Amino acid sequence: MPRPVRDVVFVDGVRTPFGKAGGMYANTRADDLVVRCIRELLRRNPQLPPERVDEVAVAATTQIGDQGLTIGRTAALLAGLPKTVPGYAIDRMCAGAMTAVTTVASGIAVGAYDVAIAGGVEHMGRHPMGEGVDPNPRILAEKLVDPSALVMGSTAENLHDRVPAITRERADRFALASQQKVAKAYANGKLQPDLVTVATRDLATGWGLASVDEAPRPDTSLDKLATLKTPFRPHGKVTAGNAAGLNDGATAAIIAAEDVARELGLPVGMRLVSYAFAGVEPEVMGYGPIPSTEKALRIAGLSIADIGLFELNEAFAVQVLAFLDHFGIAEDDPRVNPWGGAIAVGHPLASSDIRLMTQLSRQFAEHPDVRYGITAMCIGIGMGGTVTWENPSWGASDE
Ligand SMILES: CC(C)(COP(=O)(O)OP(=O)(O)OC[C@H]1O[C@@H](n2cnc3c(N)ncnc32)[C@H](O)[C@@H]1OP(=O)(O)O)[C@@H](O)C(=O)NCCC(=O)NCCS
Repeated sequence: MPRPVRDVVFVDGVRTPFGKAGGMYANTRADDLVVRCIRELLRRNPQLPPERVDEVAVAATTQIGDQGLTIGRTAALLAGLPKTVPGYAIDRMCAGAMTAVTTVASGIAVGAYDVAIAGGVEHMGRHPMGEGVDPNPRILAEKLVDPSALVMGSTAENLHDRVPAITRERADRFALASQQKVAKAYANGKLQPDLVTVATRDLATGWGLASVDEAPRPDTSLDKLATLKTPFRPHGKVTAGNAAGLNDGATAAIIAAEDVARELGLPVGMRLVSYAFAGVEPEVMGYGPIPSTEKALRIAGLSIADIGLFELNEAFAVQVLAFLDHFGIAEDDPRVNPWGGAIAVGHPLASSDIRLMTQLSRQFAEHPDVRYGITAMCIGIGMGGTVTWENPSWGASDE
């Protein structure tokens, strides 16, 4: 019996302020960060009866300790959802939250769920990148990937080699702009509505409250950025200033069938149009969002010119610049990361894409003239992921 595919919407998203690894969340458990996000979503959306949540999918890259134990299920229980609500864990490194959203969205589209919560968390202070990994020796022995492919900063240096037009100066300029845009967004109150405060604990100073991101450096300058070391290669181009840092944080979002969201009176932030993941050579993983975006646009029947807002994860400046150069978009195009990006606020790996989605949905609300936007990111071991979204407010100003 043929069944129609249902429209899927992003209802609402929140995130913790992002901390520096080992900074304000040094004594906070990773699972508590994502639980805080889920509880806040339920508090903000009282129209959603908790028993109507059909699934909780939470991503983490390092799934051990306080990020292990099938974190979607344990976070659901800890958040006070009924025990009847199932959950599971997801991993696609930096695109964990993106994969959590696209996976539950696919389940909603075919009718397996009406409403789901997707989330992501990474406490890079408690779980440094690469913790516990045991790559199969064949990967290097059989030259399946170049050894540099396992160090993300080295893949960014490789990308600089491939695209010489992206100089250190361009990367630093892009990084400075990210810092300035985040500072402006904070000053204009754009980022605060997405943030859930988190109680913090410090053995020396006692209890505190995290209410803003810890990593931004609004006072940096091009001159200062130019002095920074290149830790991934002598005389390289990638620095702590033009790369996302090492961070702790969590995100979560409500994803629903559009008809169910409207029936329950939930807000409709964005409508999912298409998504795609693509693989590239692992040693230049930063290329990933280029083929994933081409594929997602092809599936949607759109072209890059149809996209009015871009939320691109800034793992490294070079990788966003490669994307923009490929599509012929200026690096200071106001449609791109209008509220800054991960170079300034941070990139707690598996959590990041829901930050991009949440921001895109807020920007859609401000721009009824824009119909389509994308969230896109590069992913470790050589991948990219892109989701195309439609603005439900599009055309509202013409009515
Ligand atoms: C690049 C990286 C190695 C830097 O780590 P780090 O050395 O611990 O970074 P720090 O924050 O200590 O910064 C290093 C120095 O640069 C300075 N700095 C960093 N950002 C700066 C900025 N925007 N402006 C001015 N100075 C800055 C710091 O003050 C510090 O100076 P110091 O050595 O005098 O103390 C790390 O952030 C990293 O690995 N990033 C990539 C993460 C990643 O791969 N993610 C996955 C993506 S796919």
